[in-house]
Amino acid sequence: MGHRMPHLRCTRGPENNAVGALKTGSLVEANLHQGEWQVHPMEKGAILRVEGLRKVYRSGNSDLVLFDNLSFQIDTGEMLAIVGQSGAGKSTLLHILGALDSATSGEVYFQEPSPGLPLSRLSEQAAAEFRNRQIGYVWQFHYLLPEFTALENVAMPLYLRGVDRRKAEAEAARWLAEVGLAERGHHRSGELSGGEQQRVSLARALVTSPKVLLADEPTGDLDGRTAEAVFELISRLHSAYRLTSVIVTHNMAFARRCSRVLCLADGAVSEVIPESLSSP
Ligand SMILES: Nc1ncnc2c1ncn2[C@@H]1O[C@H](COP(=O)(O)OP(=O)(O)OP(=O)(O)O)[C@@H](O)[C@H]1O
Ligand SMILES: [Mg+2]
Repeated sequence: MGHRMPHLRCTRGPENNAVGALKTGSLVEANLHQGEWQVHPMEKGAILRVEGLRKVYRSGNSDLVLFDNLSFQIDTGEMLAIVGQSGAGKSTLLHILGALDSATSGEVYFQEPSPGLPLSRLSEQAAAEFRNRQIGYVWQFHYLLPEFTALENVAMPLYLRGVDRRKAEAEAARWLAEVGLAERGHHRSGELSGGEQQRVSLARALVTSPKVLLADEPTGDLDGRTAEAVFELISRLHSAYRLTSVIVTHNMAFARRCSRVLCLADGAVSEVIPESLSSP
């Protein structure tokens, strides 16, 4: 990749580490491991807070340290791009932000319940619930179930929640209309084009009304025009539904259109001024 990635300033974690007990009135309470642990009160406006995050993969006899001591926060309503070379650890970081993977050490706190829900403390069941309730995911590949219709694919997260089938499908139909596919609900996902499949996966990500949209190279598998249309759609839905979006992308023109850009390189994150990114 030949694009310029100016390192402008590195974020720093807070120094005021407080010890406290997590008080929660939420559904996940019962599934949290009991006890006291280090908590960092969420700064006003933050929806996700990363504290001293370290991820190491063991490969043979050596350790691959993907990142170390990452600390930053994501504010509610931000449209954050994460950029960086292939292999830098962007997908791994996104998975940890969405409780799909765990860090070697450090913590990710979610805004609710106050003062912050430590994701590493969630039991498997609580993590699954957190993902279903709070997070919408879009991947480079759509991962739609080919034997199901577009409508059923979009309704799937609601079925998993135990929502009544008719209600789930009414909501799914509304989301298919939102992504411009009102007429395609009864097509099997394999009968749709790549761009349409990605729209369906976006509808599936948002059908549960998540607060956070995590997208890993959502346009990486699409041609230029289709990629533009899908990015535009993400951008529109981000605003319309007041989402907080984190978008991993290799496309600097798209990163430039986000409200904030973080570059992951050599195991650290740095802030990049979006306007400073050169368009391809
Ligand atoms: N389960 C695993 N075990 C060992 N190493 C892994 C594992 N998953 C990922 N890695 C390694 O971690 C590094 C970062 O992977 P990751 O997928 O997070 O990178 P990325 O920044 O998303 O790259 P790309 O832009 O190509 O998608 C890679 O070198 C990868 O081989
Ligand atoms: Mg990746």
